[in-house]
Amino acid sequence: MKKSIKQYIILSLFCTVVLFACKNEGAKATANNANNPFENQVDSILSLMTLEEKLGQLNLPASGDITTGQAQSSDIGKKIEEGKVGGLFNIKSAEKIKAVQQIAVEKSRLKIPLLFGMDVIHGYETTFPIPLGLSSSWDMELIKQTARIAAQEATADGINWTFSPMVDVSRDPRWGRISEGSGEDSFLGSEIAKAMVKGYQGNDLTKNNTMMSCVKHFALYGASEAGRDYNTVDMSKIRMYNEYLPPYKAAVDAGVGSVMASFNEIDGIPATGNKWLLTDLLRNEWGFNGFVVSDYTGINEMIAHGMGDLQQVSALALKAGTDMDMVGEGFLSTLKKSLDEGKISMEEIDTAVKRLLTAKYQLGLFDNPYKYCDVNRAETEVFTDENKAFARKVSAESMVLLKNLPAGRHGGNKVLPLKKQGTIALVGPLANTAVNMAGTWSVATKQEKSIPLLEGLKEVAGDSVEVLYAKGSNVDYDLKYEKNVTMFGKEIPRDDRTDKQLLDEAVTVASISDVILAAIGETAEMSGESSSVTNLQIPQAQKDLLNALLKTGKPVVMVLFTGRPLAIVEENENVPAILNVWFPGSQAGLAISDVLFGDVNPSGKLTATFPMNVGQVPIYYNHKNTGRPLSNKEGKFEKFRSNYLDVRNEPLYPFGYGLSYTNFDYSNLKLSSETISMQDTLEVFVDIANTGDYDGKEVVQLYIRDLVGSVTRPVKELKAFKKIELKKGETKNISFELSVEDLKFYNSDLDFVAEPGMFQVFVGTDSESVLMEEFELTE
Ligand code: BGC
Repeated sequence: MKKSIKQYIILSLFCTVVLFACKNEGAKATANNANNPFENQVDSILSLMTLEEKLGQLNLPASGDITTGQAQSSDIGKKIEEGKVGGLFNIKSAEKIKAVQQIAVEKSRLKIPLLFGMDVIHGYETTFPIPLGLSSSWDMELIKQTARIAAQEATADGINWTFSPMVDVSRDPRWGRISEGSGEDSFLGSEIAKAMVKGYQGNDLTKNNTMMSCVKHFALYGASEAGRDYNTVDMSKIRMYNEYLPPYKAAVDAGVGSVMASFNEIDGIPATGNKWLLTDLLRNEWGFNGFVVSDYTGINEMIAHGMGDLQQVSALALKAGTDMDMVGEGFLSTLKKSLDEGKISMEEIDTAVKRLLTAKYQLGLFDNPYKYCDVNRAETEVFTDENKAFARKVSAESMVLLKNLPAGRHGGNKVLPLKKQGTIALVGPLANTAVNMAGTWSVATKQEKSIPLLEGLKEVAGDSVEVLYAKGSNVDYDLKYEKNVTMFGKEIPRDDRTDKQLLDEAVTVASISDVILAAIGETAEMSGESSSVTNLQIPQAQKDLLNALLKTGKPVVMVLFTGRPLAIVEENENVPAILNVWFPGSQAGLAISDVLFGDVNPSGKLTATFPMNVGQVPIYYNHKNTGRPLSNKEGKFEKFRSNYLDVRNEPLYPFGYGLSYTNFDYSNLKLSSETISMQDTLEVFVDIANTGDYDGKEVVQLYIRDLVGSVTRPVKELKAFKKIELKKGETKNISFELSVEDLKFYNSDLDFVAEPGMFQVFVGTDSESVLMEEFELTE
């Protein structure tokens, strides 16, 4: 029934008055408050809403191509005006967002402001290293600050909601999205999850420089079978609780405002439609009060999973606890029918709508829908010199020195750090590509403005060094493969010279240099979403290039770009120095050079195990012992033991591994007591001496092993770490406290318990090189 203009005006006036009365009177809220301080206001709005308007709030389309000045006439503009949109994502700039928000709050009947989301994953325009790299810094303050800066920049550009942090634990480097998370350990992953949520949300979401965070992908997305993206997940509850769920829970405990459901199934039901996951666990067990958004067309994809037609899967998602439908419009197009047919209730719809409205209150959008739309902010707050300087620092902290020996067989100085003198040959397809430096999921980055290694090297080296460059090879011999991994504007223009010509040029340049830097590995698009692989080696063209460079007899440094652990056994054997730089972000070239020249001493440590070959995967440090563990430490083959015939039973580089230009010696591991009771805490002391020639930072890692349990326990579990700084020649006594909480785990009833008995404590520089002591936990 059409309303007359007069009726419409009266209703509009009424709504304005009610909405004004419902304004958030400066209430400061962090997300996920136990008691909703906005309940009355939310209820008042809800009572005004038609069913269509309610479903509109649950709808999250992608923005499409809204150009400045066109918002009004775009399709999406019309939908917003009709109240059919609750939020939009991937639209950038305060000006554009203001124009779109204007439609919502000035043209739609109820004037409800929109959420504006984006994948602000590792920085915004100022881009930090990929998350796997960031995690390798083991520096929680630094990581929190990256999220803070990302929020500062994104909110200056109008965005109020980020689809981050991604906290999926993964032990499978075949999975391309391992690059987007914090590696294989759930304790470290939980610390990072907290740091990031706090960085984005601050302690006051109503400020105009904080944004709502969305933890994803709930849950277990990193455990897809065979590392193939979107593939089936099947996992016991005890493993979920102990090994995969903690980081999501940590984000919830830190007050994250929203949760994104994952694409995969859990116990046979896709996460998006999984009531156990989204309601029983997330809300009832963990007390989450925010809203749940599906992943991109996650609701519709349940059709292909075999869960029914669009109407069925949309109803399933709503009933399970999914509140917002990303892109698919299943909610918008089918929930009315399901309601009419009694398949869902109005209460279920209302519950979801309330959660969305509450989020908008928490963000202060009812108070001021344009609070993120100050068009002058971006100019002074985005991609600033200060932020870039910080990115340079963070990138250097994320790099992991995997190997550093003298170049020749007869000893002498280690290859790194380089001296700022002589001639350096910089060779490789990754040496001069700005667009590949930011890595995967960097939607807002200014790709062309990233600093490639060639440029950074020249700048940091200064005039006393001559830098010679040759590309050396294409990314791969296989043109088709190369096309698939250099898309989305991240092309590396193919060099039309023959492979031999490219190689010859590189060898010529290398032969007249003092040292060779081989910038090789993966392109940005080789990892990330839908970038699973079955081969963890560097592409053959680049391997051949490296071998040709090694043959010159000159010292070679492999500067490894990668979004995942790679099986670089051959390279580890033959190349004297390997620096893993991940994808370092906007300031890549400068940061890599800072480390190469020793202006920054590398201190990154791996957060995901590097395997010897793909067949070892999954290989991770906190595995179980089995009934037939190996009895030798070197991983040599033993018949009728749990190992392989054809490869050593050890990883190439273990979790926690990373070298420095200096040396750290660990000694005097001491415990405050040989026994503790359930109420006590245990103090752990260790001496660490910097015995090398450089000042440096070290990540001191503490692991435990619960020797006897009611269920089998891992051979090691990270329980604490500290990143410390030691001057050359300095020794520090470092202490940790362990409480009974740290000794707890989920038993077979899924109760979180500590069991009396013997424990081992390990402290060391990585998960394998450790000192050990024992203590007993008594009743
Ligand atoms: C990804 C999410 C992302 C979403 C929105 C999906 O394909 O799985 O991580 O947040 O797209 O861009």
